[in-house]
Amino acid sequence: MKVILASDHGGVNLRKEVADVLNELEVEFEDIGCDCESSVDYPDYAIPAAERVANGEFDKAILICGTGIGMSISANKVKGIRAALVHDLFTAKVTREHNDSNVLCMGERVIGPGLAREIARTWVSTDFEAGRHERRVSKIAEYENK
Ligand code: RB5
Repeated sequence: MKVILASDHGGVNLRKEVADVLNELEVEFEDIGCDCESSVDYPDYAIPAAERVANGEFDKAILICGTGIGMSISANKVKGIRAALVHDLFTAKVTREHNDSNVLCMGERVIGPGLAREIARTWVSTDFEAGRHERRVSKIAEYENK
């Protein structure tokens, strides 16, 4: 599995925690920043990262901003992306099992590092259940392809 990791200035600290978890799990990943402490615009990170998942270069993305909301809205504009905004362990697991989410978004101003690390660990380690969920996810793709 290859993961692309990004944040805006509001998510730099959680991004470092997630990078640490990915290293622990021995998951291959590329961290595209941001590297600056000054303000940047979350779509400038979310959209390129999401495009690189949509085009198959990466399997998944993890995107972090202050709330996770800007990252999730932006990523979900990219065709083929199913970005889930997650702040608890239950939805971290179920969004992989049921939605086959390919982007995880979290907010550094919403949750602490311990929970964020567990969410990242759970999300990366949980497989899509397919079955009846396959049909539902396919309906999203059908709508995108209209
Ligand atoms: C940046 O101040 C903040 O708006 C951004 O990190 C994010 O929370 C947007 O959704």
